[in-house]
Amino acid sequence: MSLQNMKEMLNRAKEDGYAVGAFNILDYNSMKAVVDAAEELRSPVIIQTSVKTVVFWGYDAVMSWARQLTENTSVPIAIHLDHCKDLEVIRICIESGWTSVMIDASSKPFEENVELTGRVLEMAKPNNISVEAELGAIVGVEDDIHVKEQDSHLADPEQAVEFCKKLPVDCFAPAIGTAHGVYKGEPKIAYDLIEEIAKRTGVPLALHGGTGLADEVFHKCIALGCAKVNISTQLKYAHINGFVDYFVANNIYNPLKPLQAQYDSLKTAVVQNIKLFGSQGKV
Ligand code: 13P
Repeated sequence: MSLQNMKEMLNRAKEDGYAVGAFNILDYNSMKAVVDAAEELRSPVIIQTSVKTVVFWGYDAVMSWARQLTENTSVPIAIHLDHCKDLEVIRICIESGWTSVMIDASSKPFEENVELTGRVLEMAKPNNISVEAELGAIVGVEDDIHVKEQDSHLADPEQAVEFCKKLPVDCFAPAIGTAHGVYKGEPKIAYDLIEEIAKRTGVPLALHGGTGLADEVFHKCIALGCAKVNISTQLKYAHINGFVDYFVANNIYNPLKPLQAQYDSLKTAVVQNIKLFGSQGKV
């Protein structure tokens, strides 16, 4: 099945009360683990790419892996650019074959966020590319975006409604109390805010900062309208630990062995999350 955008898969997930996992890949091995897990579990999935990863490998390399890996798959798969502040990077991704992009202008004043998101919609829509946008400030580090605790703030529900009324985004990421990276202490999730924004905008919401949330937190957020769940940090740990643990235990200089162990550990993490988000068997 060829790569598709996120629109239909997220709308279906929202209607049906489950979420589609968006997994930040790091290389070919991790992208393969994501695709194989989704295919095996008959689940839609989002291959998510951070700007740094795309720049590290090059647009064409990342896209060629995605095309090759999804050539013979039979589940819906999107390739989505995560948190991007740079319209030029978004433009190149759209031209290179990405099926979905996120404009993150959340650090800008509201009007500027609206304007920049509008410009991305103009680039994306004629190409059938889905668009995610953010409002509020999610604490933590994601790619090149660093938000300190004192600078983080939840999305304002009135602004969220105005934003989504003005802009036909396919997925909306309001800051609702989650954090990127490893949680220090118990996160305070603003469930009321998720419920209000989901109901009043009608747009599928993205739950950022998925790593480290308790199962019941996922279940509650998904039931309230989060149709996309982002997982990045957990895969970074699986990537490094899968490789290193194998090498430390076996101490043999055959890189294909620890690479296989790395793939296995990444796939295990993706499988666990797909089951948790309820998208298994939805295709
Ligand atoms: P984690 O790193 O906490 O999993 O968050 C991922 C994310 O939200 C990417 O945008």
